[in-house]
Amino acid sequence: MKITVFGTGYVGLVTGACLADAGHDVLCVDVDPAKVEALERGVVPIFEPGLEALVARNREEGRLGFTVDAAQGVAFGTMQFIAVGTPPDEDGSADMQYVLSVATTIGRHMDGYKLVVNKSTVPVGTADRVRATIIAELAGRGVEHDFDVCSNPEFLKEGAAIEDFTRGARIVVGTESDKVRELMRECYAPYNWNHDKLIFMDVRSAELTKYAANAMLATKISFMNEMANLAERLGADIENVRLGIGSDPRIGYHFIYPGCGYGGSCFPKDVRALERIAHEVGYEARMLSAVEAVNDHQKSTLFNKLSNAFDGDLNGKTIAVWGLAFKPNTDDMREAPSRTLMEAVWAAGGHIQAYDPEARDECRRLYGDRNDLTLAEHRVDALDGADALVICTEWKEFRVADFKAIRDALRTPVMVDGRNIYEPDSVRAAGLLYFGVGRGDSVLTEISGAAG
Ligand code: UDX
Repeated sequence: MKITVFGTGYVGLVTGACLADAGHDVLCVDVDPAKVEALERGVVPIFEPGLEALVARNREEGRLGFTVDAAQGVAFGTMQFIAVGTPPDEDGSADMQYVLSVATTIGRHMDGYKLVVNKSTVPVGTADRVRATIIAELAGRGVEHDFDVCSNPEFLKEGAAIEDFTRGARIVVGTESDKVRELMRECYAPYNWNHDKLIFMDVRSAELTKYAANAMLATKISFMNEMANLAERLGADIENVRLGIGSDPRIGYHFIYPGCGYGGSCFPKDVRALERIAHEVGYEARMLSAVEAVNDHQKSTLFNKLSNAFDGDLNGKTIAVWGLAFKPNTDDMREAPSRTLMEAVWAAGGHIQAYDPEARDECRRLYGDRNDLTLAEHRVDALDGADALVICTEWKEFRVADFKAIRDALRTPVMVDGRNIYEPDSVRAAGLLYFGVGRGDSVLTEISGAAG
């Protein structure tokens, strides 16, 4: 099939590269000439395992191309995927200008049947707006062409995007049309073996499914973080509780890891956007507000623990940070807990010495050159002369650590583990004070004054 993908961000690029790899002919369109030029040279602007190789292979084999020419893009594919960003507006609702501008472009250039597939995460009712925009554009040109608009939300995770796209649990398609169902079946046939993963439904339900999935996952995390905070105060260990409840298949082990809060480009944005969607139809989504409030609080717990360990005085202290990305296997720092921590440390007069395997450039881009930030090339360098170590991201390489060496490198033996990657007893045996998330004796009262 001939497929055009508008937008070469995370979702667009992964969609384009994977569909090309499955044998389709794909042309990706982006308004940013620098990005298109880089992609043409095989340079992928995001860190995503396997993506660069996938793009290179399919470019070489002639199945994947990039262009800034929107007219060429519209002419190319029978299927026109919209995978552009929906960044939050000031009030948290999704900004639809990029999606609607692609719709305008399609209406302006189409000269025959097109299936417009919306992959961006968009408010319920967007397919209707996309359809109306295209109709208005066609009317303005004084022409008539047949087209369909369907919703096909994307559920991929950063860091596992290719695996998720090609082996995802389900392919949701919102449409009422048999023709669209057939085209979508053909498009996804390479990934739809073994059992039928295609779930067809009406467009609005498909649009809401995407938000509901992210909101449910964010809810599980905030719920566990709330239990962890409770466990700290009750002297219970949330890691035991996690195993205890996860063993119930009705609850399951996935997405119940407590930590220092969820970040990234999806959960925070989508929970807020769904709250706005609810508000606009006169419904107050109390649970979504609570999920967000718990998460905001959770991001501040790293700093609170650290601050308590130093009797509220971090002025002049150097804090080593391991992990800047919002999660492992990405260089993405959007809404990362590390940022809440670093900004609070800076506000308290402290210095940050940080290490991340992939996100150092992104950190430099976000914060520029500042005297109170040192980016270390190796994780051990971040410890040099630091007063405490805080772990913000559970990169695999942090899982094995020499606790005695960490203790010797630190001026005061304080470790705050925001992802519970270590066993408290092993860390303490090396002479470090260990403060995890919800791990019984990391109660705030015990921390107080312990290292000061
Ligand atoms: C998420 C969804 O998983 C994906 O389906 C959707 O398409 C986009 O949003 P992503 O943001 O890439 O994907 O990351 P994910 O792996 O889901 O993690 C999100 C955040 O939740 C991270 O900050 C992670 O550290 C945190 N998290 C996840 C927890 O704190 N605990 C958990 O148990 C799981």
